[in-house]
Amino acid sequence: MPIFIRGTGACLPGKVLTNDELSRRVDTNDEWIRTRTGIRERRIASEEEASSDLCYHASLRALEAARLGPETIDLILVATITPDTPFPATACYLQQRLDCRPIPALDLNAACSGFPYGLHLARQCLSGDPHCRHILLVCGDKMSSVTDWQDRSSCVLLGDGAGAVIVGRPEDSAEDGHPENSAGKSSSEGLRLRIIDVLLGADGRGADLILMPAGGSRRPASPQTLEQREHFFRMDGRRVFRESVQVMGECAEEILRRNGLSAGEIDHLIPHQANIRIIDAVAQRLQIPPDRVAITLDRYGNTSGATIPIALDEALRAGRIARGEKLLTLAFGAGLTWGAALLQSE
Ligand code: ACO
Repeated sequence: MPIFIRGTGACLPGKVLTNDELSRRVDTNDEWIRTRTGIRERRIASEEEASSDLCYHASLRALEAARLGPETIDLILVATITPDTPFPATACYLQQRLDCRPIPALDLNAACSGFPYGLHLARQCLSGDPHCRHILLVCGDKMSSVTDWQDRSSCVLLGDGAGAVIVGRPEDSAEDGHPENSAGKSSSEGLRLRIIDVLLGADGRGADLILMPAGGSRRPASPQTLEQREHFFRMDGRRVFRESVQVMGECAEEILRRNGLSAGEIDHLIPHQANIRIIDAVAQRLQIPPDRVAITLDRYGNTSGATIPIALDEALRAGRIARGEKLLTLAFGAGLTWGAALLQSE
């Protein structure tokens, strides 16, 4: 049964943190950050805002684009590594704020691969449960809450944001607000995106390459963990760089191969936004020209799992995606996890 993305939305906090501002906090400079990462600035949430707040605003926009109300949602999936609290799930805070029915709501932790992981789960739930018609999938992170502002190699990379999609089944009618049956246009210009395929992978042998060392059951918070700055994002940047180029390239080739497609048939590559050099290397390997590659990291940095739905939302709202085009989204992140989703606009 075909499953569709029916609407998208994003939320980026208003506060902009530029490279120049960062260079007043740590020993870095705009030229290094721009040339080594492609990032010019990132958005930072206020102290009062938590991940669920970013998710809430992205969800409202996605619901509006899908012309659906919160009461029509049958399941909430929130992909986050910066939950409001370790428990309960951020999805429950979001459910309460959206005033949904008492539907199931859960978080998933796949770091920067949250979007393809969530899309896969949403697709399976919709295919397997006739009572499940609309799923809200939100990827949202307040990465600034786990950023070590003394570590120049990681603090320059991260930003805050959320991206949401409404995933639904095809037999929709005017009552549930299918864009084609509604007056006016959705933000996506009436397009919906059919999920052709999703491919996922993980390799826990790389778990130590990107992690927050403490605050879990292995190393609960203590004065020692605080002193050793173990409640912050840590990464072996060079190894992650090498792995991500290799794995994202292989993942893209595999999903194209098993769907009988060539990279030349992909109209839009929407990769996870971690480093422009990683994106360029993957695009080059696939021989996809730069004008077909979505870039947001220059303005938002790495917002973890939110980068792909934010870029997707931006491309749709800017009218860059035409009917009948094929999109390939590609993710890689902590775990290690990775994933790809093939979509077609209809
Ligand atoms: N400003 C100035 N110099 C810096 C900075 C900085 N912000 N950061 C590092 N340097 C220095 C290093 O100290 C090093 O100096 P040295 O040679 O004197 O030791 C030099 O620059 C080169 O360091 P490298 O680590 O080799 O720099 P590289 O070109 O690899 O860039 C970076 C580092 C940007 C972190 C890169 O490795 C990278 O992007 N890695 C992948 C990140 C990623 O994909 N993350 C995704 C996962 S995130 C998630 O899952 C939530």
